Amino acid sequence: MNVRKATLDDAHAIAIVHVESWKTTYEGIVPAEYLAQLSVSEKEQLWKRGLQQQKHYIFVVEEDGNVCGFISGGKNRSTQGKEAEYEGEIYAIYLLKEAQGKGYGTKLVKALVDDFQRDGIRSMVVWVLADNPSRRFYERLGGEKIAEEVVDIGGKKLTEWCYGWKSIEYFA
Ligand SMILES: CC(C)(COP(=O)(O)OP(=O)(O)OC[C@H]1O[C@@H](n2cnc3c(N)ncnc32)[C@H](O)[C@@H]1OP(=O)(O)O)[C@@H](O)C(=O)NCCC(=O)NCCS
Repeated sequence: MNVRKATLDDAHAIAIVHVESWKTTYEGIVPAEYLAQLSVSEKEQLWKRGLQQQKHYIFVVEEDGNVCGFISGGKNRSTQGKEAEYEGEIYAIYLLKEAQGKGYGTKLVKALVDDFQRDGIRSMVVWVLADNPSRRFYERLGGEKIAEEVVDIGGKKLTEWCYGWKSIEYFA
């Protein structure tokens, strides 16, 4: 197992993990038609754009040289409410089903947090669907629920919870 900063060459592998993990994670939560239309090539273009940024916070985890998960983050996108008081944000973290439950997720969060700390980002949030059992992962890492909102995914209203870490020094 190896965690490293992602490069442009990882865009395709990240897109595959992204689509596959969405399908297994959100089956029965997000409408099936929405999951069916997710496209690796569209996601690959999005990831390429992200990876071309001069400064990006995208890391991958590899098993036997194959990418099986990723995390991406950056500046907090919230502009109002309690959640806007935090500096950084985990935008996405996804592992293939077979790579889950082995500590890789924790290692990805630590890699991101290390990078945040180097850049003076001292707190962070993450948004997760309330119906996703993986939200307990954030609780296990010390995140506290600070907000919630309703989002529309594929025509279905879903509740998202926001977890916050006032200080990410804990991860160091
Ligand atoms: C959420 C995810 C990134 C966590 O990574 P992981 O490698 O599976 O988690 P870890 O093995 O590092 O687990 C760390 C701790 O969180 C707990 N945890 C992880 N996933 C959990 C879940 N679904 N339910 C309850 N606890 C969970 C683990 O039990 C572990 O606790 P422990 O230290 O007491 O054993 C990964 O499971 C995943 O990709 N899930 C599907 C995609 C997803 O939901 N992403 C988040 C979208 S916001």
